[in-house]
Amino acid sequence: MVWADLKAHRAAQGDMRIETLFDDPRRAGEFSVRADGLLFDYSKTLIDAEARALLLTLAEEAGVAARRAMMFAGEKINETENRAVLHTALRHPGPGPVEVDGVDVLPGVHATLARMEDFAEGLRSGRVRPPGGGRFTDIVNIGIGGSDLGPAMATLALAPYHDGPRLHYVSNVDGAHIRDVLDGIEPATTLVIIASKTFTTIETMTNAATARDWLVRGVGAEAASRHFAALSSATDKTGDWGIDPSRVFGFEDWVGGRYSLWGPIGLGLMIAVGPKHFREMLAGGHAMDLHFQQAEGADNLAVMLALTGIWHAQVCGYPTRAVLPYEQRLARLPAYLQQLEMESNGKRVGMDGAPLEVPSGPVVWGEPGTNGQHAFYQLIHQGTQVVPCEFMVGAEGHEPDLAHQHRLLVANCLAQSEALMKGRGLDEAREMMAEAGYSGDELERQARHRVFPGNRPSTTLAYRRLTPFVLGQIIALYEHRVFVEGVILGINSFDQWGVELGKVLAQALEPIVAGEAGTEGKDGSTAQLVAYLRGEDG
Ligand code: F6P
Repeated sequence: MVWADLKAHRAAQGDMRIETLFDDPRRAGEFSVRADGLLFDYSKTLIDAEARALLLTLAEEAGVAARRAMMFAGEKINETENRAVLHTALRHPGPGPVEVDGVDVLPGVHATLARMEDFAEGLRSGRVRPPGGGRFTDIVNIGIGGSDLGPAMATLALAPYHDGPRLHYVSNVDGAHIRDVLDGIEPATTLVIIASKTFTTIETMTNAATARDWLVRGVGAEAASRHFAALSSATDKTGDWGIDPSRVFGFEDWVGGRYSLWGPIGLGLMIAVGPKHFREMLAGGHAMDLHFQQAEGADNLAVMLALTGIWHAQVCGYPTRAVLPYEQRLARLPAYLQQLEMESNGKRVGMDGAPLEVPSGPVVWGEPGTNGQHAFYQLIHQGTQVVPCEFMVGAEGHEPDLAHQHRLLVANCLAQSEALMKGRGLDEAREMMAEAGYSGDELERQARHRVFPGNRPSTTLAYRRLTPFVLGQIIALYEHRVFVEGVILGINSFDQWGVELGKVLAQALEPIVAGEAGTEGKDGSTAQLVAYLRGEDG
């Protein structure tokens, strides 16, 4: 019913223009949310008072508040895997309790955090040394998906705080990835972290074996084992792999892979920026958790970010959204959010197994500004599809001597959202062309190419400076956004069955690609590609 009301309201808006909403001088303030220093401005969208009221009713009727309480209480809301969803516990400073099956998980979380800190400090100070002496100058994190994207994104984001050993991330099973990393470093001074929740992921285990061979060649078999650490829920498997238990940092099944940056999976980041900055990031995440639990209705930043997403994807029907950080160090944020949002909310059935009646979560993509402006913004401004844009920008950079560059960055960010909203009409384009000396049919033709339809929605998330605390706030904000959207869609945001089939087929194809088995039973296209790739089709 509320869905229908929302769609009817959108239809009734017709070709209403966003800028007309600013006839009300209170528009910007009233269609923004502030939380602990962040400002989320969604006033440059067609969400008006009635749309917002309906969206809030939608959230209420979907039971967002109740489901949120269940999540924070450690109930098993990941119903297809029968697991609690408690990544929030990893950033909870205590005291708790935060219980799963009646047991407070915080003492375990804090004990592991303390062990991580001791190890990280040891590496940073040189107390933890390679067996052959010297210092560990390079850390290689081998992991993929949630065991890579979060820490890799955050390590780049916090580059100004990076004062520990060099950190490299290897994820792709393509041997080029690990080769290019290992070629630039020395085995004698390298620590390899194997990051895998399950410790079975083929890419990670293959790269780990390659790293082990490289270490054995470089430092000998006995010393090689002292060059590893592991981050995993499968501590039995890390033991089988020969990793010393004192260098294994475990976590529980109630931490989903794409939500795992806050605990052991963040070890590399902690080594790079130090435990103090890592804790500041946790504090930012926790501050957002409190805000998400306490702020009511339209004052709740995560809820409004989610409702803006629902408005654009499910009500307006825009199939993608662009994440556009005007912050070079957030270059990996779009990739990180692709996993967080699309692996979480790219589902075709509801919790009850019935097909969704509305589209699932949208395609998420993006690049930092201003680079994107010189690549794909053309389509955003003049293409036939509407792409809701989510801008992000800080008031200050970390380069006070380059403040003039930061001003240009900010000006560009604001200019883009203004241009998207206002556009440029045909009359203005005609005037421009007349001034440029055109007339007649040629003026008309040229003018039409210079029209911007405008009325294209965008939101802006503004923050003071990209500190560890702010980064923590932003990541937790997006996690909660995904949660709220998932509850409204009625799906399970915490499983990922859609990645299974490809994995199974890849296993079966490996011997075929290797020439150890034939292509009988494979479709014609697959058989042809196998023949070509094996160099067998002439
Ligand atoms: O393939 C999907 C996935 O299961 C992700 O959800 C996960 O983050 C990634 O693989 C890596 O898994 P693991 O940490 O177990 O190696």
